[in-house]
Amino acid sequence: MKYYINPYSENDLISDLVIFLLFKDTDYQPKNLGAAKIPQNITIELSESLAFNDFKAESRETMLFHSPAKSVRRILLAGLGERKSVNAETLRELGALICEKMEPLSSKNIHLILNDPFIRIEQQVAALVEGIGLADYSYTEFKGDINKPNVARKFSFMIPPDENLVKMRRVLKRQLQVVASTNLARTLANKPANHLTPAILAREAKAAFRQSKKVQLKVYDDKDIAALKMNAFLGVARGSSEKPKLIEARYKPGGKKRKRLVLIGKGITFDSGGISIKPSAHMEEMKYDMAGAAAVIGIMKFLDKLQPKLDVIGLIPAAENMPDARSIKPGDVITAFNGKTIEIINTDAEGRLLLADVLAFAVKKYRPDWIIDLATLTGSVVVALGNQATGLFSNDSTLSASLIAAGEDSGDRVWPMPLWPEYKKELESDTADLKNVGGRYAGSITAAKFLEEFVDGRPWAHLDIAGTAYNQKEKAYFSKTATGAGVRLLINLISKLSRAVDTAGGEEIKKAEGKSMK
Ligand code: BES
Ligand code: ZN
Ligand code: ZN
Repeated sequence: MKYYINPYSENDLISDLVIFLLFKDTDYQPKNLGAAKIPQNITIELSESLAFNDFKAESRETMLFHSPAKSVRRILLAGLGERKSVNAETLRELGALICEKMEPLSSKNIHLILNDPFIRIEQQVAALVEGIGLADYSYTEFKGDINKPNVARKFSFMIPPDENLVKMRRVLKRQLQVVASTNLARTLANKPANHLTPAILAREAKAAFRQSKKVQLKVYDDKDIAALKMNAFLGVARGSSEKPKLIEARYKPGGKKRKRLVLIGKGITFDSGGISIKPSAHMEEMKYDMAGAAAVIGIMKFLDKLQPKLDVIGLIPAAENMPDARSIKPGDVITAFNGKTIEIINTDAEGRLLLADVLAFAVKKYRPDWIIDLATLTGSVVVALGNQATGLFSNDSTLSASLIAAGEDSGDRVWPMPLWPEYKKELESDTADLKNVGGRYAGSITAAKFLEEFVDGRPWAHLDIAGTAYNQKEKAYFSKTATGAGVRLLINLISKLSRAVDTAGGEEIKKAEGKSMK
């Protein structure tokens, strides 16, 4: 599908399908429609059909009818429900519904009329195209017979003629990149583990930035990782014949000294649990254990295209967690990059091991202003939040508030969890500085407390995406499978941070972050 944005006029419109969004609590008399100065042929069609009073414009109600008029072949009415209940998220969901209703139709030339500025028209365009673009995604790489009709469609947003068309087109372009970056992350996460080993992930990352002038990619192999003394990371990889890789993507916009953000994505391409092997049921889902890594690649892709003014470094430790004669074992003690010793209690708590090394490495190498890690880290966060929100853990209240705000804005929500010192006791080991698991309860918090030991007090947030990275059932604008969780969230955050740098200078970022909460 190709998207366009154009002003409408009172002149007749030629279209295969015209889509109209209607509120329940609005009087759509012909005279009111006329006042909106929408194309005349549509005003007539619409007022005639509404006169039957069959369509109540309830939220998610739709009605499709074929028109005898040659110029407008079909009209789709889509209900918005009550005016006060409509927001960006309901519009994203409506985008998905429109996508579903279009699917069986052969319409090639589609027009969606936006004539009611109930929220700014550009926000309507942004939310709708996001909903359509995310709902239109499917992962078909290994499907032999795809029954989907492959209609090349043109989808035009028709906006009031007095809107700023240049600005609107910029919004559309940006939002299409948000969709593309999210869908890139989804495709990487959806790939089966035999088609996405650490080496293949590194190759995919290289391919994604080969043409890029702004994002530079470096891949550290197992020897480099050993030379860096990342023993926790290496320990996880030991049981697999697939060698680990550390992928480093650096985005530098150039210009004056910028603030610096490091993103770290857990890249376990398959998590069998290792010696502490997982039960068989649902083990296939552990191909998604690199969803954090996929999100980082998606975000870096966005930066490459839209170039915000902030230094961003993406780091991805990639490995496979397998049982083998060479695997790490419960009771083993390893020394992490920052010199802390870790007693392995459970080899299935592997994500925190590789993140520990890379967090400490990031702190030392980059002295970042902010560090954010994304990881499908614990089953426990799924128990706490289900698949409605990503678990947010942070040692910095300003960063945390910005992430919550970015979550609300983007629809990629996060919910804060505590990091009180009392939880740290759970990680005391008899033999080493730390053990890699806590007790039975609060598992997502003790996992985050473990990570906190490796950030040296720098502003840091950990996003546990175990519940949000993929869906077992369809949800809103997502089909089953990977969702790209974290991509829309962090694109939103980075855009705000970069605007703050732009307008206020680095020192003012804290203030701007505070404002974004409101
Ligand atoms: N990759 C899993 C976490 C996970 C669970 C992701 C469900 C997605 C869905 C992680 O490596 C893991 O196995 N965590 C253990 C930790 C435990 C051994 C302390 C868990 O949560 O059960
Ligand atoms: Zn595990
Ligand atoms: Zn894991």
